[in-house]
Amino acid sequence: MTIKRTWWKEAVGYQIYPRSFMDTDGDGIGDLNGIRSKLDYLKDLGIGFIWITPIYESPNIDNGYDISDYQKILRTFGTMEEFDLLLDEAHALGMKIIMDLVINHTSNQHPWFLESRSSVKDDYRDYYIWADGKVDGPPNDWVSIFGGSAWEYDEGTKQYYLHVFAKEQPDLNWENPRVKRELFSMIDWWLDKGIDGFRVDAISHIKKAPLETPSTSDPFESFKNVPGIETHLEELRDVFKKRDILTVGEANGVSADEAYQWLGEHEGYFNMLFEFDHISLWNKDEQETLDVIHFKQAITRWQEALADGKGWNALYMENHDIPRSVSSFGSEESVFWQASAKALALTFLLLQGTPFIYQGQEIGMTNMPFASIDDIDAVDTKNFYHEMIHAGVSPSKAMNVIRRTARDNSRTPMQWTAEEYAGFSKRKPWIVLNPNKQVINVLDESMDSHSVLNFYKEVIKLRNQSEALIYGTYKLYLPDHPQLFVYGRRLGEERFVVIINLSNEFASADLPENVQIEEWNLVLCNLNDHSIHQHTVFAPYEARVYKHK
Ligand code: NOJ
Repeated sequence: MTIKRTWWKEAVGYQIYPRSFMDTDGDGIGDLNGIRSKLDYLKDLGIGFIWITPIYESPNIDNGYDISDYQKILRTFGTMEEFDLLLDEAHALGMKIIMDLVINHTSNQHPWFLESRSSVKDDYRDYYIWADGKVDGPPNDWVSIFGGSAWEYDEGTKQYYLHVFAKEQPDLNWENPRVKRELFSMIDWWLDKGIDGFRVDAISHIKKAPLETPSTSDPFESFKNVPGIETHLEELRDVFKKRDILTVGEANGVSADEAYQWLGEHEGYFNMLFEFDHISLWNKDEQETLDVIHFKQAITRWQEALADGKGWNALYMENHDIPRSVSSFGSEESVFWQASAKALALTFLLLQGTPFIYQGQEIGMTNMPFASIDDIDAVDTKNFYHEMIHAGVSPSKAMNVIRRTARDNSRTPMQWTAEEYAGFSKRKPWIVLNPNKQVINVLDESMDSHSVLNFYKEVIKLRNQSEALIYGTYKLYLPDHPQLFVYGRRLGEERFVVIINLSNEFASADLPENVQIEEWNLVLCNLNDHSIHQHTVFAPYEARVYKHK
């Protein structure tokens, strides 16, 4: 099979969490004009498209993932006119824009839900999932991903409604054809406006098991990639397929074995997926240390499942739902911070697929040393903290877990400068700022040729200019090495090999026989350019890219 060439395979993506990106109107919250003011920065970084997380009207219980009007811009972010300007200006610079599409649920303030809950006989009742309770409580024992029962009782109509996420995010009823029609026409409306695609939120949750199904050891099984979902996804695909757009589904619960069904070039539902294999999003109580072998297996499973034109990968190490990758998989220690941030860049940017960089990742931003639960905004983290306290965990222990796992770690303001408010705003931001803005910020890094930022630029440039790094095959070397991630990319005669020490200790290895290192030129490295032999020792977080002579 040959790989079809398209713009979304060649471009590098950049995710913007608008609340925390750039504030221009001085309210401490980022805005659309802030994004407009940084388009040149993104262009210079080598970005081809931007994914903006929700900017629609919303009561912000879950920072915009609870939408009360799909066709309005939240006032705090700006106006529809400003959005149109942003779109035009990005296009003029040769960058595309994709929006977040949240169609598993709405806000409980959406007019559909207000109608729906007004009476059991209301015309909109079946837009959501309502059921009678049992004598002793909710209709079944399903639990919400954000904690507690997945059901909320409605006094007015004496029934419960289902919410996979917060109780203010009631799930839409995809079994109702009217719901789908409304959603699909809203999708068309945005596409007619000229946007270039969607990141599709929580899409593996749209189908629910029969309500009699009890919870299993996987508490979310009854609403995660449930058989029958394909019918809904096929209809959604047919809406997307009419246009040349990028679609990337957020697909918790979808395995590499199903990748072809979801992503096959002809019949697949999306262009690519954010898979959860290498990142455990909701796994809150386990220590996150990187098991390098397991990590390589997960990456390789997806690379191989979609190889040879079968489909395409979305590549990511960070987003607004997970802690910063340097803190989880690299090291915050000052001796290792910079090398590990660069090593992690090479861990995902040169694989086969479309890379998504999350704002601040390109300067090596780290987790936030949250002082107390009062610093936390995210609804799920607050619930989780209170559950721990309720279960008898001490506040200091609970805060240790929160510091390691909270989604807000990646939501602190973008660090543009070392100034009081990090050049993000003229006012105290809506969420705490990381004090390490003194060292980690765009301005200082742009003037330092060895910075993480400049390394990202070099890697992106290398990828943007090489067919082999975009379309070439992927091959894993040394699969059982517990510290090194070594992979090759090849297209015809153009060949690369990437070697990364993903540990904070020295690692030695015999390079594979078909990588005779004297036949290769070093094109990028994150530490000193010392010589390399067939048997070699790599420093902690050392990372190198070689190209065949
Ligand atoms: C996934 C989004 O990325 C996350 O931020 C949100 O809380 C849930 N879906 C619910 O929409």
